[in-house]
Amino acid sequence: MAIRPILEVPDPRLREISRPVELFDESLKTLVADMFETMYEAPGIGLAAIQVGEPLRVLVIDLQEPETEDGEPVRNPLIFINPEIVEHSDRDVPYNEGCLSVPDQYAEVDRPDRIKARWKDLGGKSHEQEIEGLLATCLQHEMDHLNGVLFIDHLSRLKRDMILKKIAKARKEQPKKAA
Ligand code: NI
Repeated sequence: MAIRPILEVPDPRLREISRPVELFDESLKTLVADMFETMYEAPGIGLAAIQVGEPLRVLVIDLQEPETEDGEPVRNPLIFINPEIVEHSDRDVPYNEGCLSVPDQYAEVDRPDRIKARWKDLGGKSHEQEIEGLLATCLQHEMDHLNGVLFIDHLSRLKRDMILKKIAKARKEQPKKAA
């Protein structure tokens, strides 16, 4: 396993449309293992393959809830390959979203509170399930990445430009150390 660098805005690769997985092979398993390691280290609760530069329809999510009494998150790693939304509720709920590719910026985004999703697992087996709450929000956020969409695209142009400017300014003030 290896931690891979996470792409950040305005990297044009984040705008690519990812392609469906056709081969459920060893390299897919390696990619998923690397994605989990990268996500936990960041730390984050979800990651799409394109965020580590692989344009494949692969997502990993771990809400790391609930926390145990000593504050340690409980791991519940979930893998979604070639995910689709089959149905969604008409009720939108706001959630204060962030993204590892839009560092340190958060904004409220409205999304359906319940979805029925279909996806494949690492073995290529199909699953279909109704999903609600934070997992529904997170899955929709990650699925946007597969189509080159970021949470800031759901905001007004003014808000989006403000966030991008803040990130550019922060980078200028604190250039990343070479490692
Ligand atoms: Ni994201």
